[in-house]
Amino acid sequence: MINNKINIEQNILESQNRIISRIRNNNAVEFNNTGKNKLYHIVTYGCQLNNADSEILSGFLNEMGFMNTNNINESDLVVFNTCCVRENAELKLYGNIGALKNLKKSKPEMIIAVCGCMMQQKHSVDTIKNKYKHIDLIFGTNNVHVFPELLEKILNEKNTIIEVIESKSTIIEGLPVFRKDKHKAWVTIMYGCNNFCSYCIVPYVRGRERSRKPQSIIEEVKNLALDSYKEITLLGQNVNSYGKDFSEPYDFADLLQDINNIDGIERIRFMTSHPKDITDKLINTIKDCGKICEHLHLPFQAGSNKILKLMNRKYTKEEYLYKIEKIKKALPDIALTTDIIVGFPGETEEDFEETLDIVKKVQFDQAFTFIYSKRKGTPAFDMKDSITKKEKHKNFDKLIEIQNEISKKINDTYLGKTVEVLVDGISKNNLNRYTGRTRTGKIVNFSGENNLPGELVYVKVKEAYSWYLGGELHDTKSYPDDETVF
Ligand code: 5AD
Ligand code: SF4
Repeated sequence: MINNKINIEQNILESQNRIISRIRNNNAVEFNNTGKNKLYHIVTYGCQLNNADSEILSGFLNEMGFMNTNNINESDLVVFNTCCVRENAELKLYGNIGALKNLKKSKPEMIIAVCGCMMQQKHSVDTIKNKYKHIDLIFGTNNVHVFPELLEKILNEKNTIIEVIESKSTIIEGLPVFRKDKHKAWVTIMYGCNNFCSYCIVPYVRGRERSRKPQSIIEEVKNLALDSYKEITLLGQNVNSYGKDFSEPYDFADLLQDINNIDGIERIRFMTSHPKDITDKLINTIKDCGKICEHLHLPFQAGSNKILKLMNRKYTKEEYLYKIEKIKKALPDIALTTDIIVGFPGETEEDFEETLDIVKKVQFDQAFTFIYSKRKGTPAFDMKDSITKKEKHKNFDKLIEIQNEISKKINDTYLGKTVEVLVDGISKNNLNRYTGRTRTGKIVNFSGENNLPGELVYVKVKEAYSWYLGGELHDTKSYPDDETVF
């Protein structure tokens, strides 16, 4: 049975490779004739898991001889990788593909593809089919591994092609990945989610939990280390249930320990964690493994037990706070971040006060806050609101204000300290400054020398704001042992 599965995977990869060669040859011939490369542009919405899929699409396209461009107008192929977690991501997609109608009219040979989570929903595919007839190719999250095949079809047939596999139980390893960053990498360790939080569309569009084999992940990280990557972020909708689908006992903490032993990797991060699955073993692993960064993203979503139950979150406010207390005790330097939904159906002013109570008690470094968005096909879709839209927005603004104050207060404690920063590059907001992150995940903008991207440097913090720190490069790039480094 297992051998049979491996054979199927090998066949899929081999047939994609044959197609990749054919398209690459055609592109080479075209380049000889016209002197121009075929260009592609990918627009990615939503979470890091979508980003990881886009990196695979990029990997395929580069192998097929396409080149990336930031200019959508000059592209021969545009791919929109969609998200459906909240309505505004869907509306953005419709706005952006609508805006391409005229470009497609003037450049009919341009191919426009739409893929990702939204395409796993029949009603979204129908909307595109009926209202956006200039879209050439539609495919789902479960079809990414056959992208070359779909592209070849559309290059030959020119009629709209729709291919959405509803569910997939296997994981295809060995797909090409093109990472824009050369110092930090996202590594997907599992797909899907089994939790069915009542507001969330993810389990319906990404399917059930499937963990990648530890050997495949470890091999990928070893190769990243050989390629001089310094930081990796392990990705999954709920990384703490990694390995629950294995017959042999091997869990997320085991994986972290194995990755911590890989030479060359300096920082390990992971997201997202479900509070119900945080174990003592995991907390101890974070404590014992030097490369695991002092940052935990632990969404609590809502503070009232009534709402948590309606959300199907499987923990109470008290249980969440108890786990936080344990984490803080074991890991006093840890930065905590969270996700919060405001205005879930049935949430009253009293319920919302419970959310504020958690925010005040925990003192998160940062919170990602969302107004509840109705998702068709989820259990919460038919639940009724207790407060008006205006009241929800008022609560939302109040939450942000309180959290910003807390973030600023925590960031103030960094003033005058020296922090270790992995440099990402030049700051977008101030081209005279570099930007990077501390181990605790804080953005630091600082003035410094050339050629810093990818380096680990030490920065003295001189400014603190709610969302970032500012500072100056320490006068030495080696460990400043006269000071404590955070
Ligand atoms: N409405 C608002 N926010 C949502 N999230 C997920 N589904 C919804 C929804 N229907 C938020 C949760 C999750 C984050 C990734 O997105 O807070 O943790
Ligand atoms: Fe959605 Fe809940 Fe799964 Fe997160 S844990 S992806 S919120 S269903």
